[in-house]
Amino acid sequence: MELCVALDLPSAEENLALAESLKGYDIWLKVGFRTYIRDGKSFITALKAINPDFKIFLDLKLYDIPNTMADAAEEISKLGVDMFNIHASAGAVAMRTVMERLSTHPTRPLVLAVTALTSFDAEGFEAIYEKSIDEKAEQFAVMSHRYGLDGVVCSTFESRAIKEATGEGFLTLCPGIRPFGEDAGDQQRVATLQRANAEGVDFPVVGRPIYRDTEPQKKVEAILATMATL
Ligand code: C5P
Repeated sequence: MELCVALDLPSAEENLALAESLKGYDIWLKVGFRTYIRDGKSFITALKAINPDFKIFLDLKLYDIPNTMADAAEEISKLGVDMFNIHASAGAVAMRTVMERLSTHPTRPLVLAVTALTSFDAEGFEAIYEKSIDEKAEQFAVMSHRYGLDGVVCSTFESRAIKEATGEGFLTLCPGIRPFGEDAGDQQRVATLQRANAEGVDFPVVGRPIYRDTEPQKKVEAILATMATL
């Protein structure tokens, strides 16, 4: 497993201070909508300046017509980020177009597809997708695998079935991780590191349990130490 820390603090200064305190660790950093819209490309450059070995996941969840998504994917690959994501529900043609466009880039970022947003409850999800979350997440994962994506964003509880349907090497990135059983906040289906490991999760994403801790650096150290024993 590789730890992915969500940089969800309200200002660039706070996010950069958090990154600075974590510069000694081999971790991924997740940059989302809010941060990227406000702080843009220079924020990515600032993270790399803190530690060039930080791995960056740009969580912008692209969803548009295939050519527009491929244009955006191409621009993202020029930013020097290591991973980004699209919505699986953008469809097979969008997936194929994005991956074809990136295939000419020697060092393309990893591409993940979002299966089901964790904010959906069963009823809200079925009202749109007409299938259960488990069923649809697996179907989206199989489609993403077929079109050459590297993995999916899903909940911990779908990770094992997705690996069985696609292959062990197909990546699962899972938010809603509460490493040591911390407060769930607004997350519905949370899992500990132990559980994430048992379900084959490749990238546990952790936000609030780290940045709301009084000592985020110590928390990351404890998480990495636990991960090393799993
Ligand atoms: O603070 P917490 O650990 O709950 O943060 C989880 C992170 O993962 C947040 O940045 C949230 O936006 C993101 N995320 C999520 N569920 C998804 C996709 C992303 O919680 N399906």
